[in-house]
Amino acid sequence: MTSSAPGTVTSACASVLADVSPGRRELFELRLHRWWDDLLDALTSLYGDIAQDVAARLVVLAAAAYRDRDPELHRLDERRILEPDWLQSPGMFGYATYADRFAGSLEAVGGRIDYLEELGVTFLHLMPLLRPREGDNDGGYAVASYREVRPDLGSIEDLKALSKLLRDRGISLVLDLVLNHVAKEHDWAERARAGDRHYRDYFYVYPDRTEPDRFEATLPEVFPDFAPGNFTWDEALGGWVWTTFNAWQWDVNWANPDVFCEYADIIFFLANAGVEVVRLDAIAFTWKRLGTTCQNQPEVHALTQALRAIAKIACPAVAFKAEAIVGPRDLVQYLGQGEHHGKVSDLAYHNSLMVQAWSMLATHDVRLTAHALAALPPVPSTATWIAYLRCHDDIGWAIDDGDAAAVGLNGFAHRAFLSDWFTGAFPGSTARGLTFQANGSTGDRRISGTAAALTGLDAARAAADEAGIDRAIARVLLGHALIAGFGGLPVIWSGDELGMANDPRWAAEPGHEDDNRWVHRPRMDWELAARRHTPGTPEHLVFQGISHIARTRARLPHLHASVPSTVLGVWDPGVLLLARRHPVGTMLAAYNVTDSWRPVPGWVLRQEGLAGAIEALSGRRVRIESDDNAWLPPYAVWWLVDHIPPHA
Ligand code: GLC
Ligand code: GLC
Repeated sequence: MTSSAPGTVTSACASVLADVSPGRRELFELRLHRWWDDLLDALTSLYGDIAQDVAARLVVLAAAAYRDRDPELHRLDERRILEPDWLQSPGMFGYATYADRFAGSLEAVGGRIDYLEELGVTFLHLMPLLRPREGDNDGGYAVASYREVRPDLGSIEDLKALSKLLRDRGISLVLDLVLNHVAKEHDWAERARAGDRHYRDYFYVYPDRTEPDRFEATLPEVFPDFAPGNFTWDEALGGWVWTTFNAWQWDVNWANPDVFCEYADIIFFLANAGVEVVRLDAIAFTWKRLGTTCQNQPEVHALTQALRAIAKIACPAVAFKAEAIVGPRDLVQYLGQGEHHGKVSDLAYHNSLMVQAWSMLATHDVRLTAHALAALPPVPSTATWIAYLRCHDDIGWAIDDGDAAAVGLNGFAHRAFLSDWFTGAFPGSTARGLTFQANGSTGDRRISGTAAALTGLDAARAAADEAGIDRAIARVLLGHALIAGFGGLPVIWSGDELGMANDPRWAAEPGHEDDNRWVHRPRMDWELAARRHTPGTPEHLVFQGISHIARTRARLPHLHASVPSTVLGVWDPGVLLLARRHPVGTMLAAYNVTDSWRPVPGWVLRQEGLAGAIEALSGRRVRIESDDNAWLPPYAVWWLVDHIPPHA
């Protein structure tokens, strides 16, 4: 049953849309009818009695955005409606980078599209590029103005031109929507500091420590090293303001519907600049509740549902990507469970898969991974995991104690081992990561480092250890094949496609010295990138290996993200076996996380109908030996299918 928007709402829209064609006006009404219930239900759980009024305000903002939307973007809306599974296509392949560190400016990014195409990229996440505060700004995550581009990168006009250029080349632009906090220099915060009540209510401000102390009793710390605590005293406000991240990042109050309307309008602004996917930064933190960690509260999903519904009305081409780096049980909620099934984000980072990839590489053992992946509840067939090996952030060991116990591990000890392993402190490890934010009270230690540093490539190159280099490259490719073959949307972190090393000068840039995540955010070195065409160099092996993985992926309909990867049993602790039972045929992926030959039982292949399978990456047939095993070489990946369609 759907109900329709009340007459007052439709007539308010009619006046906003007075000058658009009758056909286009009718389309808006159809969308409003389609999404009204999703919008109102979600707003009701957020704002109770005033939900109708909030919905009415939002719909008028949506109508204005719809009216002002470029005809080309209206066409894009129709294309996406005709192909709602576009993000799930095996042809999708993502890349994330900073515009300045990659190319210099927005215009210069446009000059590097050939490079992205060569790699197979169709989805480009440019790190925060809206105007941040001056000085340290957490890599742009402290936004001072959502409606201006960082001046040295270009202007909103340049952003529009770039999104169009990318779209014409088949690449969708992804931008952050930093919606948990603003820079303390943002206009809302400035006005609050100047004594404006209206804007003071955009934040959580407390006159004394009573409430902050009650909250602190159950709040974790995100940056215990350089930003301890979750509240900051502000003299002008005469109060303690909520600051989950840095002292100059003020959490906004989503319980205030004015804040909701502001962000909805910012989404429209980005959508009309040609942004196709908005990354909901730190979305887990957006609702606070006393006595909890103030993460993953149910209202977070209601507010996502409402934002998505209103975007579907104005600009349905826009997709939502949740950045919730949380434990596996909370994570699945971001793709929609229960009442929010199919109604929240289209995409969410699979940080559990990411953590498990590193755990397998460190232990040469897949048992924890097989258990943890199998224990995840199913996600809606319309939602898609972002599968990634590295990103711009640190790695936090999101391993559930119960999952660890189920395979005979102690969660705490295993997490401590991983931190030791990836900083090279554990005997035998050649990883060269750095410890990020060691937390004395919880024992938690996160990790920074590029894929090359963490797989041992940096150390092997420094030692001119040829065999070590080969093994590390095999690990880099194994990790990337795992994310490309999982059936989500793989996203590569800039530099990893060339096996770029940790940046030895990371601390030299002003404002970066305390934050070693900059060690794995190297500036693109185009001379080094040129070596991707010199056979035999690590850059060549890694780049060609990853672009080959991307191209092979694009040809395999089995990798459409609507079909889940099923973990098969573990017959050899060194081999992860995932089956993708797609109507076109089953794909069986085998990953050997060890440096020795490992068996895949012949009967498993027969059971999956793949006895004479083709290995898609090499184009060769698998051989079952007389011991009834197929033998997987060290660090090898097999993507087994019974045929490869000539055209995807
Ligand atoms: C996200 C970003 C991270 C940033 C934080 C605060 O987690 O990925 O880089 O520090 O949000 O905005
Ligand atoms: C986040 C994440 C945390 C991450 C941090 C920034 O939103 O929750 O895991 O490490 O911000 O680095």
